[in-house]
Amino acid sequence: VKRLLLRALQGAVWPRASQRNGFDTLSLQFFLDDLRISTNVRLFEDIRALGTRVSAEVRKAVLIDGRTWLDRAFVVNDWYISAYQPISDSFGERVGMLYVGFLEAPFAEAKRAAFWWMLAAFFAVLALSAPVFLWLARGIFSPLERMTKVMHRVGKGELSARIGRVPARDEIGAVAQHLDWLLEQVQERDRQLRSWNDALNQRVDQRTAELREANEKLEQTFRQLVMSEKLASIGEITAGVAHEINNPVAVIMGNVDVIRQTLGDNAEPVATELALIDKQVSRIEVIVGKLLKFAAPSEFSDCEHNIALRPLVQDCLVLVDHLISRGGVEVHCAFEEVPPVRADSGEVQQVVVNLVVNAVQAMQGAGRLDLHLAEAERAGVAGVALSVSDSGPGVPDDLLGSLFDPFFTTKEKSTGTGLGLATAYGIIRSHGGLINLRSKKGKGTTFNIYLPASAKEIVQEEEFSGEVMKGTETVLLVDDEETIAEVGQELLETLGYTVLPAMSGKEAIEIYKKNKDEIDMVLLDMIMPEMGGSETYDRLKKINPDIKVLLSSGYS
Ligand SMILES: Nc1ncnc2c1ncn2[C@@H]1O[C@H](COP(=O)(O)OP(=O)(O)OP(=O)(O)O)[C@@H](O)[C@H]1O
Ligand SMILES: [Mg+2]
Repeated sequence: VKRLLLRALQGAVWPRASQRNGFDTLSLQFFLDDLRISTNVRLFEDIRALGTRVSAEVRKAVLIDGRTWLDRAFVVNDWYISAYQPISDSFGERVGMLYVGFLEAPFAEAKRAAFWWMLAAFFAVLALSAPVFLWLARGIFSPLERMTKVMHRVGKGELSARIGRVPARDEIGAVAQHLDWLLEQVQERDRQLRSWNDALNQRVDQRTAELREANEKLEQTFRQLVMSEKLASIGEITAGVAHEINNPVAVIMGNVDVIRQTLGDNAEPVATELALIDKQVSRIEVIVGKLLKFAAPSEFSDCEHNIALRPLVQDCLVLVDHLISRGGVEVHCAFEEVPPVRADSGEVQQVVVNLVVNAVQAMQGAGRLDLHLAEAERAGVAGVALSVSDSGPGVPDDLLGSLFDPFFTTKEKSTGTGLGLATAYGIIRSHGGLINLRSKKGKGTTFNIYLPASAKEIVQEEEFSGEVMKGTETVLLVDDEETIAEVGQELLETLGYTVLPAMSGKEAIEIYKKNKDEIDMVLLDMIMPEMGGSETYDRLKKINPDIKVLLSSGYS
């Protein structure tokens, strides 16, 4: 039975090597209590190790504790993988043990062989799979490498760099495609930014130019403002002085007339002296007139008419023709059709003549004179622009601000009074116009005049007959200046009029109330202390709305 059991076990556990070195690989032993009573393990030849005992440790675990003992064990001369199991009798008493042991060596050998086999298989698989893995890895790494290179190029500023088509159709291919799309977006944004930048730069340039232009205009306006402020204050003083001079001059003139009228034919011996007085008085009148025109306060300016500038400028050229042709000044005129302006033709003529004379004098007789007349607009108001340019030496920068000052001249006292441009300034300003100049040293000078256009038709001026009218009517002469009043009275009486003098507005009103029916006309001085001319006029007008009043002033 034991042999059969052994064979069966051996066949099951170790089928191919049941024997090793003449020994069984499988050992089967029975113990009665701890005494070996049956074994197939031989000590040598045919002698078996019967009658020997198990170790106390095994005995305790199996026989006393009733456990199965599993462990390596060195039996005779070999290591076995062994197991002891308790055997119980029909009463459940542990009476012995069954031992089964497998020789460990074949196991260890099989384990080693398996290990080497597995190692060999591992390397074989490794050797076989390496090229496949490398091939697969290249599929991953080459697109990544391309991506890295492209990113590097983009980083250096080459925004058009793209990864392009990637053979991989997996996530890497999708990433590459997505990256290309992102780069496309970046390039587009960059393009947009650049175009915005260009547009912005353009706008900045434009704004800078506009600012510069505005600044220039501001500076020009500022200069003009300073000049007009300065000239306005000079003008006020001038007007006052001229007024003070005008009255004595009027007295002198009136008295000379009275002397002439009184002497009649007897004036013959002093005719030369009287003529001399006339001439000098006229000279004073001319200068005072010029000064007043410079001051040109609007209420004292001469009456204005609608005039055509083109014939007026042409007339001016005729007036100065002798100067122009003397040295051979080349004159170029460009006159366009222009609307009429509301101005005093004599005054405007005076301005133009002065500008042309100045230009000819500056060029010292020879050069090129350009006159240009065109329609113009300033601050939305239509008008006419006249420019007078010369090829003369120009005006030094430091003198530019003084040119319009009264009595500023670089000419000799006999040639220039320095009132030409001051007068021109006053006249143009009183007409609501503008005058300025552009000049560079050595590059000639251009004077520009702007006059606002008038809406009305041009009217022809009536010719003055030149005859002194005499009359018999009664005149109320109102003037606070005693001498003027006296001279006026005498002059009017010489001419046949009856004169009622009044020294103030108050007195005038009283006299008028008393002699209302007799008085045909009132001669009224504008500037008087207390009640001025205009107030007196208003009161007189209330007494008689049809009253005829001639307002006069020492200013003109
Ligand atoms: N076209 C010009 N080129 C160079 N300098 C000029 C020109 N026009 C005027 N000037 C300068 O401006 C100064 C003032 O001119 P303005 O006409 O006021 O007086 P004037 O010509 O000297 O004397 P007036 O005109 O009273 O005879 C001149 O003395 C001259 O120095
Ligand atoms: Mg002049």
